[in-house]
Amino acid sequence: MAEYCIGIDLGTSGVKCLLLGDDGVIVDSASEKYTPDFGANGHVEQDPSVWWDKTFSCVKALAGKNPQISANIKALAVSGQMHSSVFLDKDGGVIRPAILWNDTRTTPQTKEIYEIAGSVENVLSEVYNLALEGFTLPKILWLKENEPDNFKKVSSVIMPKDYINYRLTGNVYTDYSDAAGTLAFDVKNRRFNESFVEKIGIPKEILPKAIESTGTVGVISAQTASELGLPHGVKVIAGGADNSCAAIGNGVVSSNSAVVSVGTSGTVVAFLDDIKSKVTGAVHLFNYSYPNSFYAMGCMLSAGECLNWLTREILTGESFDELNELVAKTPIGSNHLLFAPYLFGERCPHTDPSARGIFFGLSSLTKKGEMARAVMEGVAFGLKDMFNLVLDFASMDEVYITGGGAKSPVWSQIICDVLNVPLKLLNISEGPAFGAALIAGVGAGVFPSFADAKEKSMRVIKTYTPQNPEKYAEYYKVFQKLYTTNKSLYQELLSL
Ligand code: XUL
Repeated sequence: MAEYCIGIDLGTSGVKCLLLGDDGVIVDSASEKYTPDFGANGHVEQDPSVWWDKTFSCVKALAGKNPQISANIKALAVSGQMHSSVFLDKDGGVIRPAILWNDTRTTPQTKEIYEIAGSVENVLSEVYNLALEGFTLPKILWLKENEPDNFKKVSSVIMPKDYINYRLTGNVYTDYSDAAGTLAFDVKNRRFNESFVEKIGIPKEILPKAIESTGTVGVISAQTASELGLPHGVKVIAGGADNSCAAIGNGVVSSNSAVVSVGTSGTVVAFLDDIKSKVTGAVHLFNYSYPNSFYAMGCMLSAGECLNWLTREILTGESFDELNELVAKTPIGSNHLLFAPYLFGERCPHTDPSARGIFFGLSSLTKKGEMARAVMEGVAFGLKDMFNLVLDFASMDEVYITGGGAKSPVWSQIICDVLNVPLKLLNISEGPAFGAALIAGVGAGVFPSFADAKEKSMRVIKTYTPQNPEKYAEYYKVFQKLYTTNKSLYQELLSL
């Protein structure tokens, strides 16, 4: 009898659920949208009950549409937006809305963490990552300093996907990949760094129990299973952080494989057996959803969003296909036009909220196709910056490309040329929900291993090979100077 698993992607603006068979074929999917609450001063919050309600109706719809299959669902796992904090009291009640990963209220707390630790290097040696505003520990410190009454009630702090697991099973857990994004985790030794957390002034008792992504949190409670239309005994596998699950779903299941993703943001994620190089904070180093492994990740804040912006605000008349045709007819280097892709500030390689986009080299002869190509090339150069940093940790012998940008062959070829490595495109582009389904399957024994799951479900449909790397290398040198030359001007401009 065939067996099935559910993978859930609990994102920032919606949830997606997907049903996967043990033959590696996706049977069906369902999704729901929601919007976080954007407040003043960089506040971004979400009531966790919204996540639960929407996930509940999504899973129920999926089960309802597939009544014969539902009886054979063995396991479920959730991929979640990272870092966002859910504060629970001793009875498991939510104390206040969750503070999300893209909330920037915690700048003073990140400074405080560096001060208490003594130096940036000390923070890196304790938790392997820089103290960024989005991470969880600064949010807990913010709560302590700004809402002491709420802070006193906190019994545990978990991430969004852990909250879904808790509502399904009654058990409070996180997994290593999400724990790694808290800034409270000793990544290399796979345990919360309790002494560091206490030094920062946070009681270690509020940290959840952490297990591998493929570990079991429990089974869906009988009542919830009945309400969802699922059989009794469905296992809840711990699941993982969205970037980790997405990489699993993009075929990164062996040493030195990697994926380049061009979504709204852009990422380079590489599988690591170990953290061998010097930890500098230039890229994130997190635990991976593949047992006993890690990943290095560079994350640029605007990648696909740069082209979205261009077609939304500037080149409003062209369809995606027309734009791609124009770009294909435009020479490498866009007739000496460069674009710096820092539309939202930047995270990697330049951790700089005041960085902004630049078109450099415009003339009265500049054509639409050149602007579009410059944007694609600028994003590719941004990916190259990160790729070079990740190379310090992994040789990246096998690289996949995914995300909305991978739908454009011309853009994919540009990225391939700029990175100067072959790029493989897979038949599946479901990202984190698919990765979560594979994690559920491996965790519950529906698939004997990730390699087996990959073999059954994924196939390379196209391989890009570098055609003109030398020409791009010259443009890249000038591109790199765009940020360094303008760094101080950004702040001057924003202070006006
Ligand atoms: C990763 C990060 C984002 C969120 C978005 O460090 O901040 O990718 O996980 O969901």
